[in-house]
Amino acid sequence: MKYKSQKVAYWFFALSMLLLVLQITYGFVMGFARIGMDGLHDFIPFNTARAVHTNLLVVWLLSGFMGAAYYIIPEEAQRELVSVKLAYVQLISLAAVGVAAIVGYHFNWWEGRKFLEIPHQLDYLVVLNVLLFLALILLTLFKGKRKTTTALVLSMGLLFAALLYIPGMFPFDSQVTDSFFRWWVVHLWVEGVWELIMGGILAFLLIKLTGVDREVIEKWLYVIVGLTFLSGVLGTGHHYYYIGVNKIWLIVGGIFSALEPLAFLAMALFAVNMYRKGEKKHPNKIALFWTLGAAIVSFVGAGLLGFAHTLPQTNLYTHGTLVTAMHGHLAFWGAYAMIVLAIISYSLPNMTGRKFYDGVRGRVAFWTTNIGMIGMTMAFGVAGVAQVYLERKFGMEFMAVQKEISIHFVVLILCASLFAIGVLTYIYDFYKHGRPTDEALETVESSYL
Ligand code: HEM
Ligand code: HEM
Ligand SMILES: [Fe+2]
Repeated sequence: MKYKSQKVAYWFFALSMLLLVLQITYGFVMGFARIGMDGLHDFIPFNTARAVHTNLLVVWLLSGFMGAAYYIIPEEAQRELVSVKLAYVQLISLAAVGVAAIVGYHFNWWEGRKFLEIPHQLDYLVVLNVLLFLALILLTLFKGKRKTTTALVLSMGLLFAALLYIPGMFPFDSQVTDSFFRWWVVHLWVEGVWELIMGGILAFLLIKLTGVDREVIEKWLYVIVGLTFLSGVLGTGHHYYYIGVNKIWLIVGGIFSALEPLAFLAMALFAVNMYRKGEKKHPNKIALFWTLGAAIVSFVGAGLLGFAHTLPQTNLYTHGTLVTAMHGHLAFWGAYAMIVLAIISYSLPNMTGRKFYDGVRGRVAFWTTNIGMIGMTMAFGVAGVAQVYLERKFGMEFMAVQKEISIHFVVLILCASLFAIGVLTYIYDFYKHGRPTDEALETVESSYL
């Protein structure tokens, strides 16, 4: 039998899906604005849309990670969550802070630091929310029957992610200092502690879906954690090249960030090897698609496309262009969006008792989102490279360049439409599963626990 309190996860996942739809909507607002169709400009100018788009991304991923933790930790610790009521309080307050921030952005209530635009008054609410979340998760783990490596890596990732939020809460007057600490949040999240969260979820899913021994899977997890910290911490230097700090970062950042793809490569090899080794034929194939997909696409988006502009010699030209947007989209998609969609695909049938994993909808969602996102990445990439040459090699004026490359945004919108169809299909499937029930959780076959 499973644990009834795991049902809380469902509502975090539902919130996550809602915010994903909103995020994509703002993506289209920007895409259309880029080809001159900017009718909403007075209410949603490009800069507002951009802040809303990226912040919604972070919030829906966090909501997905929290749902994942509420699902995984009771099962790993072998006990119910310490308080289901407080978990719902945490859910509602998360949604409330998210909505307040998003509405506020439309009235220019935000701070101009990319990705960390939430006004500092709201930051304190975020802190309270995250403290409550961590208390529930860590107490459950602490009081549980067992403390597995998978659960510990996942919890450590979540705890460090919370701690690393702090350096981003205090703006500095100096642009250099401000930028320096902003990266402790933005970089050390996605190229550090979020990788632990991803690794933890990945390990859990591989244990369930392949049936390979926990010992084998968790050994890999140590390797991934090791590689992540070895490269990611000093890899922060790839954001310090030309911001006004000591020149030593050119070498440190260049070397260590060039090693960062290794952690993602390890994750991809790990997932594929465990899949090959696995004897258990778990019926939920679509969850396996998303799990292997996350490991492989993250290596391409984060590892390869990250490497493409990480050396100081290339970053000198590509910094802050659409080359960054190309990498940002596929990296976030592969690593974090896909792992959230994987844990949802795995847990939803268990929580609701509806086993749609043989259906065609799941596969359509998987392929259209991925093909659409690869197309979007290519559109950003071509636009980005053209931008680098026209603006930074040939010295053309910024806005003139933007006009030249606007045709690539037509391609972007077409690919994004395919992507959006996939996301809507996924969400329709989510909706069709219905609500979670105690009976469903009780009847999950124990061999698939
Ligand atoms: C899943 C992991 C990753 C995600 C989600 C991610 C996402 C992003 C995002 C959103 C940005 C833009 C940040 C900003 O300007 O505020 C960025 C920048 C950057 N990323 Fe990544 N990234 C990941 C991993 C990597 C890796 C492994 C490398 C190197 C091998 C890398 C290299 C870079 C570089 C050099 C920049 C700076 C680009 C510039 O100067 O404009 N990233 N990344
Ligand atoms: C319909 C789908 C989408 C469209 C049309 C879209 C479009 C855009 C556009 C136009 C930008 C601004 C680029 C610029 O500065 O000019 C942007 C930024 C961004 N989007 Fe999307 N997007 C979509 C979906 C997504 C998804 C699903 C993710 C994550 C998985 C994502 C992650 C990001 C990130 C991280 C940035 C900031 C990149 C940077 O800092 O350079 N977007 N998006
Ligand atoms: Fe970075």
